[in-house]
Amino acid sequence: MEKVKVGIAGLGRLGKVHANNIAYKIPNAELTAACSIMPAELEYAQNELGVKDVYTDFDEMLAKADIDAVAIVTTSGLHCSQIAKALDAGKHVFSEKPLGVNVEECKQAEVAVERHPELSFFLGFMRRFDPSYAYAMEKIKAGLIGEPYMVKATGIDPEALVQGAIRFAPTSGGIFIDMAIHDIDLMRWFLGEDPVEVYASGATFKHPEFKAAGDDETGVAMYKCKSGKIGFVHVGRTAPYGYHVETEIVGTEGTLRISPVPEKNLCMIYDKNGAVKECVSGFPERFAQAYLLEMQEFIDCVQTGRKPEVKVYDGTKSTQIAFATTQSYKEGKPVVIDY
Ligand SMILES: NC(=O)c1ccc[n+]([C@@H]2O[C@H](COP(=O)([O-])OP(=O)(O)OC[C@H]3O[C@@H](n4cnc5c(N)ncnc54)[C@H](O)[C@@H]3O)[C@@H](O)[C@H]2O)c1
Repeated sequence: MEKVKVGIAGLGRLGKVHANNIAYKIPNAELTAACSIMPAELEYAQNELGVKDVYTDFDEMLAKADIDAVAIVTTSGLHCSQIAKALDAGKHVFSEKPLGVNVEECKQAEVAVERHPELSFFLGFMRRFDPSYAYAMEKIKAGLIGEPYMVKATGIDPEALVQGAIRFAPTSGGIFIDMAIHDIDLMRWFLGEDPVEVYASGATFKHPEFKAAGDDETGVAMYKCKSGKIGFVHVGRTAPYGYHVETEIVGTEGTLRISPVPEKNLCMIYDKNGAVKECVSGFPERFAQAYLLEMQEFIDCVQTGRKPEVKVYDGTKSTQIAFATTQSYKEGKPVVIDY
């Protein structure tokens, strides 16, 4: 096929980012259909993206639209059922993370993917496509830091968005399920091993609403692998300076740090506050390139038949680890992770 025809499901915060990339920035893709339960978002697709074929029902889009592939950017609890339906309808599938909101669902998605080896299934762990993370992985593969044995991953949302997080807290599944999945994926990717034990804890010093919802505004978790490798994940919702995603990989011969200062760009501002580097404001800005590069890779996989590097099993594993982390956090003791 000359261009891969894509139908997108979900045109919210992230759906719009993916939709714009498919419509305007990926030469071998075409956005031919869109689905959302929000009429205003379908108007957006028609007016801003030039998509005439719009639906309020996912099944109807699968049945009627002229599409080769589906990009699923809907609410997390819908991903697994939509993945299975789309694959069974003969469509290649890109799905946002998390794969599912519980392990049983993820296992069902695994079965659906296994049922269709002829189709591409791509899971959106986009940090792996961020040029700095990809560069770090190249250095590790080249042996620059020897054997990587510890990953410290930080992911803190901006305080500017905290009211949304407070509203979402009672239904989010808790800070680890909600926020740590990308950091867990990076830990697994860089260590090349899955953790077998976790101990987690949390703290709230600024917004008691999180405690009232049975959650915390800060979460920390320590992971141990069978070989002795260690992971440390710190997630939070109250960075006053912006969006802080930082990762450190420690090896026997050196260390790599990705964005130790979450700087916006290379501009240094000298003013009455001193010499200041502004910070990146949120995930759409920090990972703009990663969202584009991962979608380009999905489209290329569809066209060439190349298998995506991230497997459906990576989605299940990261969900299992996030649930074990939440269990440890709730019980206040270490938890063995059974796969
Ligand atoms: N990779 C990342 O960095 C990242 C960042 C943000 C969000 N996400 C994930 O992307 C997904 C969407 O997040 P968001 O922040 O854009 O959410 P959002 O609430 O802004 O958008 C959700 C979208 O889903 C659509 N939707 C809901 N039910 C539907 C249905 N039955 N059929 C069709 N469409 C339906 C809504 O109309 C809306 O367009 C979530 O799973 C989230 O975890 C990933």
